[in-house]
Amino acid sequence: MHIDRLEKRWAGIALGIAGLFVAVILGSALLHGIHAPSNVETIDSAKLHLSAEFAEDKLGAITNPDGSVTVRMVAGRYGFYPKTLTLPAETKITFRWVSLDVIHGVHIPMTNMSTMIVPGYVAQVQTELHHAGDYPLLCNEYCGMGHAHMWSNIKVVSKAQWEALNKQGGANHG
Ligand code: CUA
Repeated sequence: MHIDRLEKRWAGIALGIAGLFVAVILGSALLHGIHAPSNVETIDSAKLHLSAEFAEDKLGAITNPDGSVTVRMVAGRYGFYPKTLTLPAETKITFRWVSLDVIHGVHIPMTNMSTMIVPGYVAQVQTELHHAGDYPLLCNEYCGMGHAHMWSNIKVVSKAQWEALNKQGGANHG
């Protein structure tokens, strides 16, 4: 079969571009730790209030012995619980989410914190928030009439402020 030289060249360029895209995706995933959120961990959505991890008094941020922070939140039509949260900047944070009812999404604009929350599963995202300030935490998956009103507020403070708050008896228990 005869293939024109010019056609071969363009096929090569097209394959090269596809290869470049794959290399960029692999590079981002491996070097910057950017990856699709994936965590296969099941939970009974109807019994969250009875669960050891997601009962109402267990929600919010806790500091782990190694200094990292774990945040547990429940999403339900139409809100994230708790409604406000204070978190430290420049600290490894593990967000763990569950849904009470339908599929929700959660996103903190200007950060890479974004995931779907599927009922029956625990959604988990590990991240660091780099800049202090107030951030909305929004639902980004259409979940019903109140979808546009589904949000919480995150206050990111410097690590020093966070430690001071924790000394006073906890940033998220008052
Ligand atoms: Cu929850 Cu949209």
